[in-house]
Amino acid sequence: MLRDGALDGKVIIITGGGTGLGKSMATYFGQLGAKLVITSRREEVISKTAKEIEDATGTEVLAVPGDVRKIEDVQHTLAEAIARFGHVDGLVNNAAGNFISPTERLSHRAFESVIGIVLNGTINYSLEVGKYWIENKIKGTMLNIVTTYAWTGTGYTVPSACGKAGVLALTRSLAVEWGDKYGIRANAIAPGPFPTKGAWDRLFPEPLREKLDPIGRVPLHRVGDHQELANLAAYLISDYSAYVNGEVITIDGGEWLGNAGQFTPFKHVTEEMWDLWAKMRGK
Ligand code: HXC
Ligand code: NAP
Repeated sequence: MLRDGALDGKVIIITGGGTGLGKSMATYFGQLGAKLVITSRREEVISKTAKEIEDATGTEVLAVPGDVRKIEDVQHTLAEAIARFGHVDGLVNNAAGNFISPTERLSHRAFESVIGIVLNGTINYSLEVGKYWIENKIKGTMLNIVTTYAWTGTGYTVPSACGKAGVLALTRSLAVEWGDKYGIRANAIAPGPFPTKGAWDRLFPEPLREKLDPIGRVPLHRVGDHQELANLAAYLISDYSAYVNGEVITIDGGEWLGNAGQFTPFKHVTEEMWDLWAKMRGK
C-alpha cells in the first residue's frame, strides 16, 4: 500500500513477531525498508521467522528471545536492538495470550497469565522503550494491537477483555501525556477475525469451529486478509500518519457494529415479507 522505502531508516520492535499477525506486519515493514527486532518466548520460532523475512525482503532482522512479562527480558531486547542498529524508532505491542473458558472455571493464575502478557507486557515495553525515547529525544511511535471487545467487553475470554481494555486506556493516555511533552505518538488497531494458528486453535477449536462460524458474524462475509492489517499497521507506524495520535482503528469488516445493531437481525426478512408488510400498510 505504501511506496517502496516508506520505512527506510526506521528500526521497529515487534513483540510476538515470530508468528501470525506479528509475522505478517514484520514482513511488510521489512519490505518497506524497516530494520526489525522480533521477540517472543520461543527462540526457534523467531529465529526461523527472522531468516524467512531476511530472505524475502533483504532487510536485517534481529531475533531476541524473551518474555514480555519479565522486565529484565524487555530491557535485554531493547539493549540488543540499540547495540545492533543504533536506535529504535517504533514499537508494536502485539504479543498476546488468550483462551476460551467460562470465567467461573478459571483460576487466579489463568487470569494472571493472560493479563500478564497482554496488559503488563504492553506496559513493560511501553515504559522501557518510552523512557529510552524520552532520554534520547526520539519522537517514537507506538502501535498497540487490541481487539473490538476492548470496549464492548465479552464473555468467555474475560482475562483478555480486561487486558485489552487496559491496553486501550494506556494507548489513549500515553498519546496525550507523551504526545504533549515529547512528540511520542501512540495508536491502536482493533482487528476482527484474521485466521492465525495461535488464535484459531485456542478460540475456535474443532468441533466448535463450524458451530461458532466467525465468518457468519461479519457483514462483509469474510475474514480479514493479513496484508490488509499489515497495510494499516505500516501506515500507523510510518510518518504518513504523523497527525494520528490516540486513535484506535477497527479493521473487522463491520463485525462488532453489525452484532451491536439492534435491528441487524432484520437481514433475515425476505423481499416477499417486506412486500407483504408494505401491502398491509396500504402501499
Ligand atoms: C482454562 C487455562 C487454559 C485454558 C491455561 N490455563 N490454558 N485455564 N482454560 N484453556 C491456566 C492454567 O491451568 C494455569 O493455571 C494458567 O492458565 C497459566 O497456564 P500456563 O500454561 O502455565 O501459562 P503460560 O505458559 O504462561 O501460557 C500462556 C497461555 C498460552 C495464555 C496460557 O495459551 C499461550 O502461551 N498463549 C500465547 C499465544 C496465544 O494465546 N495466542 C492467541 C492470541 S489471540 P493453574 O491455576 O492451573 O496454574 C487473541 C485474539 C483475540 O488474543 C480476538 C480474536 C477474534
Ligand atoms: P499468535 O500467532 O498466537 O501471536 C501471539 C504471539 O505472542 C506469539 O508469537 C507468541 O509467541 C507471543 N507471546 C505470547 N506470550 C508471550 C510472552 N509472554 N512473551 C513474549 N511473547 C509472547 O496470535 P495472533 O492471532 O497473530 O495475535 C496477534 C495479536 O493480534 C494479538 O495481540 C491478538 O490479541 C491480536 N488479535 C488477533 C486477532 C485474530 O483474529 N487473529 C483478532 C483480534 C486481535 P511465543 O509463544 O513464542 O511467546
